Amino acid sequence: TQALRLGIAGLGTVGVGVVKIVRRHADLLKARTGRSIEIVAVSARDPNKDRGVNLSDYAWETDPVALAKRDDIDVYVELMGGENGPAKASVEAALASGKDVVTANKALLAIHGQELAEQAEAAGRVIRFEAAVAGGIPVIKSLTEGLAGNEITRVMGVMNGTCNYILTRMQSQRQGYNALFDECAELGYLEADPNLDVGGIDAAHKLALLASIAFGTKPNFDGIEIEGIQQISLDDIDQAEDMGFRIKLLGVAQRTARGLEQRMQPCLVPSDSPLGQLEGGTNMVVIEGDAVEQVVLRGPGAGEGPTASAVMGDVCDLARGLQILTFGRPANSLEAAAPAVTGLP
Ligand code: NDP
Ligand code: HSE
Repeated sequence: TQALRLGIAGLGTVGVGVVKIVRRHADLLKARTGRSIEIVAVSARDPNKDRGVNLSDYAWETDPVALAKRDDIDVYVELMGGENGPAKASVEAALASGKDVVTANKALLAIHGQELAEQAEAAGRVIRFEAAVAGGIPVIKSLTEGLAGNEITRVMGVMNGTCNYILTRMQSQRQGYNALFDECAELGYLEADPNLDVGGIDAAHKLALLASIAFGTKPNFDGIEIEGIQQISLDDIDQAEDMGFRIKLLGVAQRTARGLEQRMQPCLVPSDSPLGQLEGGTNMVVIEGDAVEQVVLRGPGAGEGPTASAVMGDVCDLARGLQILTFGRPANSLEAAAPAVTGLP
């Protein structure tokens, strides 16, 4: 069987993590998928930066669009980030030139996912994005495969590692916001624009994707009521603790008689509950379905290894020839039954 050939655009926290796994686990990946997985070409802005991995075996492309169009790759792996710009242009170029796409870019997909999914379908290709929701937790795979026999009634959880890190450290160490923010940068948790993290927008991007998969709707980011954590003070945290609660940035998407409700906001959760006990950059996603009742998934939501782990799960599925579609399918759409509701009344 021929090797699956990758072109990787973006060699930051996640891209370097993917290169490391491909190099470290070449034999394991081949044993699991039946094919070699090879990196053919890479792209980033600065060709001279030391990234701590050996890139000399790979062709270098300065322009990610040129990388996406190369004839010698099968899968375009987009790990640059950004809602528009080279990320969108290169994903479109990859699909138009017959490549499958793997991305961790929740901003791109939450805003343009439907359009890109339609382009993928027209081209007979797929876009996979496990890493875009809750980092290392295989939540999309759980919904599309393991829980496929359920009508999903609610998905909720903590989906931004930066916010959870800051909130738990404020509570447990009484540390100030600024020092904690700097620690998140060192841990590789932050988005290029950290306001996306603390403003709740990054978590809302993830919720829009998660809800679309859970409920068979188009991603509806604009329909989410969003509030960030910037206004939370140590006093708020103390008062919550005194009452037996912790403050978490919680996303909820649920089926109601009026349609799909989606919100992302700081919430009080009981201190001794699984959500209340969730520490550091960890994420937790709770899925409720009519048959399974409740499933709780917990794991690292960000960082080099965990995010690269999720990217590689998608790459391995493509190597095995699995072409599972995610959103963009009208079947069982809530929109067909009821108009989408924007946030809570
Ligand atoms: P980084 O900022 O660490 O890396 C971004 C990479 O993209 C850099 O190598 C940069 O090049 C390259 N890049 C940026 N713009 C261009 C461009 N115009 N042309 C070519 N290359 C470009 O980001 P992350 O690795 O943290 O994140 C990547 C993606 O993964 C984002 O979509 C993010 O939201 C998502 N993600 C990240 C997680 C994390 O924990 N970090 C978790 C889940 C998802 P150079 O290095 O030369 O500057
Ligand atoms: N900035 C994101 C977070 C990265 O802190 O959770 C993972 O998506």
